Amino acid sequence: MKDSDRITGAAHDSVIHDSAIKHVTGRAEYTDDITEPMGCLHAYIGTATVAKGQVTGLDLSAVRTAPGVVAVLTEDDIPGRNDISPTGLNDEPIFSHNVQFHGQPLFAVVAESRDLARRACTLARIDYDQVPHATDIDTAEAAGYPDVTAPLTLARGDAASALANAPHRIQGRMRVGGQDHMYLEGQIALAIPGEDDEMTVFASTQHPSEAQHMVAHALGVPFNAVVMNVRRMGGGFGGKETQMNLFCAVAALAARATGRAVKLRPDRDQDMEITGKRHDFRIDYDLGFDADGRFLAVDGVFAARCGWSADLSGPVTDRALFHADNAYYYPDVRLRSRPIQTNTVSNTAFRGFGGPQGLIAAERMIEEIAYALGRDPLEVRRANFYRDGADVTPYHQQVTDNILTRLVDELEASSDYQNRRQKVLDFNAQGGVIRKGIALTPVKFGISFTATWYNQAGALVHIYSDGSVHLNHGGTEMGQGLFTKVAQVVAEAFQVDLSRIKITKTTTEKVPNTSATAASSGSDLNGMAALNAAEQIKARLVAFAAEKWGVAEDAVQFLPGRVAVGAEIMPWEDFIKAAYMARVQLSAAGFYKTPDIHWDRTKGQGRPFYYYAYGAACSEVSVDTLTGESRVDRVDVLHDVGRSLNPALDLGQVEGAFVQGMGWLTSEELVWDDAGRLRTHAPSTYKIPLASDRPRVFNVALAEWSVNPERTIKRSKAVGEPPFMLPVSVFEAIGMAVASVAGYRECPRLDAPATPECVLMAVERLRG
Ligand code: MTE
Ligand code: MOS
Repeated sequence: MKDSDRITGAAHDSVIHDSAIKHVTGRAEYTDDITEPMGCLHAYIGTATVAKGQVTGLDLSAVRTAPGVVAVLTEDDIPGRNDISPTGLNDEPIFSHNVQFHGQPLFAVVAESRDLARRACTLARIDYDQVPHATDIDTAEAAGYPDVTAPLTLARGDAASALANAPHRIQGRMRVGGQDHMYLEGQIALAIPGEDDEMTVFASTQHPSEAQHMVAHALGVPFNAVVMNVRRMGGGFGGKETQMNLFCAVAALAARATGRAVKLRPDRDQDMEITGKRHDFRIDYDLGFDADGRFLAVDGVFAARCGWSADLSGPVTDRALFHADNAYYYPDVRLRSRPIQTNTVSNTAFRGFGGPQGLIAAERMIEEIAYALGRDPLEVRRANFYRDGADVTPYHQQVTDNILTRLVDELEASSDYQNRRQKVLDFNAQGGVIRKGIALTPVKFGISFTATWYNQAGALVHIYSDGSVHLNHGGTEMGQGLFTKVAQVVAEAFQVDLSRIKITKTTTEKVPNTSATAASSGSDLNGMAALNAAEQIKARLVAFAAEKWGVAEDAVQFLPGRVAVGAEIMPWEDFIKAAYMARVQLSAAGFYKTPDIHWDRTKGQGRPFYYYAYGAACSEVSVDTLTGESRVDRVDVLHDVGRSLNPALDLGQVEGAFVQGMGWLTSEELVWDDAGRLRTHAPSTYKIPLASDRPRVFNVALAEWSVNPERTIKRSKAVGEPPFMLPVSVFEAIGMAVASVAGYRECPRLDAPATPECVLMAVERLRG
C-alpha cells in the first residue's frame, strides 16, 4: 500500500494523545503556566474554623493593613448575586455569614503575591455563635437534618409482598466511603477585566458554560460579557464540574474590584478542605431470593452524605439508584434515595457519578446469596443477568444491547477463572496467615446525562485557505484524550492527516451553551457535533466542485490527502484554494443532540440512557490476616467500548479508571474529626494508590467484536467512567480471602474502603 492510500490518524487508529509529549516534557500549558498580565494580583480565600454557626463578628482590619494587601472582599462586595448553586436552588453562597461547614469561604484577600494574600488571611478575627453540627449521615439523620434535594424512588411490581413471600430473605447494611479527586493540577482561575462589563477567565473547569453563568451572576452582568477559556485540565474526574465555580467567581469579583488581573490558586490543603468529593453512602438492603439463587425482590435505601448544599447531589443519588441493579434483573423492586444534608464540604460529581455506590450494593447482594447458598458468586451472577423476558430495569428501560454473557464467558476462559479459583480454595485450605481471594464481577453502565437537555453539543470547524483545519468544540480536555478523538473524526471526514487539524482550547466565545464534559459523553456528543460541522463544509465543497468541473456530485470524492473530481485528482490544499477563490464558505458550526432518550423523574420511568457500556474484571488478591494488608496479584479485564475511536487511549482510560477505583475501595479514606474538621487534607494523610500498588499482573483487553448498535460516533461507546467499577472485583476478592477464615460460611460483609484496619476487624469478627 502506498503512503497516500491512507491518512494517518483516522478514527479507530491508536494515535498518541495530542499532548502526551508536552505533558511529560512540561511544555503543556496549564492555567498556572499562562503568562501573567502586567500588574496581576493574587487572591486567597479566608475560611470558617467552626463547622456550624453564625459569624457574629468579622474583624478584617489587620488583614486590610497587612503587607501587600490591595483589597479584601466579603459578601458585601458582590455586585450581582451571592450564589453559585449549579441547580438554581440558591443554596450556595460565595461568601456567607451562616457557616455550614468547617472550611466555608467567608472572605477573600487580594494581594501583590499569593504568599502575602495567604498570610494576610490568617490575621482575620472572627467571632462565631457556634451551634451543634453533624458531619456524618447517622448524626445528621438523628438530628433531623433535611434532604438537600428531592429524593427519588424507583419501583416496579410489589417489593413488600414479594419479600414477605420469598423463601429466603436477607437484610443488611453496607457503608461505602467517599473519595477525594486528587487531580494533579488543583483548582485555579485567572480573571482579566476588559472594557465596559467584560471579564475573561482562564480556568481549569469541566464546565465552562456554567462557570460563565456563575461569574456573570456574581458580577451582575449578562452572559455575553463573560468569556471562559480552558485549554486543558491536569485531571478533573468530576471534581471540576461545579467546584471550579467558586474560584472563577472569586477571581472575577477580585478583578472587577481592583481593575487588575487576578489569579486564584488555593494550596492543596485548602483545595481539599473547600471542595466537594465523592458521596459516601449508607445502604440498607432487604432482598428475597429462591433456592436457585435468583433474586425475587429487592428493597434498598441509599442514604448519601451530601454536605452543606445540594450541588449535584440530586443527580448523583439518582444515578446510584439507576445502577443499583448493575447487571441483574430484580422481579419486584423498590429503591429509594436519601440525599441528606451534613456539615461538610458539598459532595459532588466523581467518576461514575453515584453509579459505583449503587452498583456495589448489587454486588454485595449477590455475595449475600452466594454465601447463604454456598455457591460460587459467579454462578449467582450469571443466574441473575438480564435476559430475554427479564430485561426491564427498575426505571422501566428495556435492556436491548446486553452482551454480558459473551463478555463474562470470554473473560472466565481467558483469565482461567475456574482453575485459579480452585487453586485459591486449595491454598486457603492450608490455613496459613496469608489468604487468597478471587472474584469476577461485571459492569453495566448507562450512558447519557439523566438531565436530558444536557445531551447536546456544538462544534466550530474552519478550513483556512491553505488547507489547514481549525477544530473547536464544547468539550474540555482533562487528560482523557477527547481532543485527539474528535480530531481523528474530523481528519477522517476530510481525509486529511491528523497533523493538519489544529486542536484549540475550549472557549465560550466559539461554542455557546455547552454541557459539562461529564457523564463519559464527551466524545459521543462532541464527536458527532464536529462531524456534523465537517459534513456541512463537505456538502458545500461537493456542490462547488460538481458545478465548477461539470460532473455529478457523486463523482466528487475525498481521497487521502487529495480530492477526485471526475477524472481529475488534485491535492487537498489546491482544491481548498480553488474553493476559496470561488467564494465557498469554509467554516461551519455543527450541532448534535442524542436521539430517543426521555426521562420522567416523578414517575421514575423512561429511557434515560441511549445505550449501556459493559465490562468485566477478574481479580486475585492476597490478604495478610495478621495485619489486614492486601495486595492485588493479578487482574484480567475485558471491557466494551464498542468500535473504539482510539484503542490506545481507551486502554489508558480502562487502566487508569481501574487503579482509581481500587484506591476508592482499598486505601482512600476521608476522616472528619469531632470539631468537623477534615483531617485527611493532603497526600500525607490521604492515601491514593502508588505505582507499587498496581496489580502485579494486569491484562487489559477491549472487546474488539463489540459494535454499538446505536448510531453513536463511528459506533463507539463511552469509556471514561464505566471501567471505574471493574475493581469491585478486587473488593470482593478481598472479601473471599477474609471469609476463608470462617470456612466461607458467612458473607464477609466488608465496608468500603477495605483498608487494613477494616479488613483486620472483619477477620477478627468472623473468627469470633
Ligand atoms: N481521564 C483523565 N485522564 N482525567 C480525568 O479527569 N475524568 C473522567 C474520565 N476520564 C478524567 C478521565 C470522568 S469523571 C469523565 S466523566 C470522563 O473522563 C469525561 O470525559 P469524556 O466524556 O470525554 O470521556
Ligand atoms: Mo465525570 S464524574 O461525569 O465528570
